[in-house]
Amino acid sequence: MSTSLQPSTFAGIVALFHRISGIQLAASKQALVYGRLQRLALEAGEPSVQRYAESILKGQVSKAEMVRVVDRLTTNETYFFREPKHFEDLERRADQAGDDGFKVWSAASSSGEEAYSICMVLADTLGMKADWEVWGSDLSTAMVQAARQGLYPLDRAENIGPERLRRYCRRGQGPYDGQLLVARELRQRTQFLSANLMERLPENLPQFDVIFLRNVLIYFDADAKKKIVRSVLQHLKPEGVLYSGHAESLGGLDLPIRTLQPAIYAHG
Ligand SMILES: C[S@@+](CC[C@H](N)C(=O)[O-])C[C@H]1O[C@@H](n2cnc3c(N)ncnc32)[C@H](O)[C@@H]1O
Repeated sequence: MSTSLQPSTFAGIVALFHRISGIQLAASKQALVYGRLQRLALEAGEPSVQRYAESILKGQVSKAEMVRVVDRLTTNETYFFREPKHFEDLERRADQAGDDGFKVWSAASSSGEEAYSICMVLADTLGMKADWEVWGSDLSTAMVQAARQGLYPLDRAENIGPERLRRYCRRGQGPYDGQLLVARELRQRTQFLSANLMERLPENLPQFDVIFLRNVLIYFDADAKKKIVRSVLQHLKPEGVLYSGHAESLGGLDLPIRTLQPAIYAHG
């Protein structure tokens, strides 16, 4: 039994996914793509992954099925307090913020851990009575739904720290045993929406003090990166800052930003 797609089919899937998401899947991702499509094919009752992939390319699958395909092909790895330097910087900025509301956007929020980590820092620094809000957005609708739920396996709690765990997380009971739920007060401060960074951004997105655009640009070529950063910057306040993942360089892209520290940028 074959465990790979025909080369032209794999190339077709790569091109289609690039058109939809802007993400360039590398040739080295063949096995990963095959495995993910295999699960989808099985769920759709199609035993042949090759036939399933062909039906995608011929436009023979429903819109809902296409959403599932895009969801599965994106890489959603994330965790609480990933790259902690940004959270230390956020704390300093929140501490110095004025009274006119503090807004932070997690622009590729995946399952929400980044947005809720931001919430915990703001709740600690500004308190629950202050005017602050956190937004999260992602291409994957499945991730947006998971983020809204705020329910995670307990073993993801590792980086949260005992004090924040006690204050901001509830331990699941009964059917939720082994899981943690982010406290309602934090979930209420956070809105998650579906947004494709390659397309026009939602009209209701406000201006932010801080934007987290982390571990997503890595998948894009230079032109797409530029397009995304320019569009995201439209939502950054003039004195605001943008964080990128530490493995993602924004240098040499001719962008209207200046580096304050590694992976921390201001308008410039
Ligand atoms: C590796 S996760 C990073 C999550 C988080 N920012 C972090 O650093 O832990 C990348 C996320 O980017 C999302 N993504 C990929 N392409 C996107 C696009 N064109 N628009 C919006 N989100 C996208 C994926 O769905 C995925 O959830």
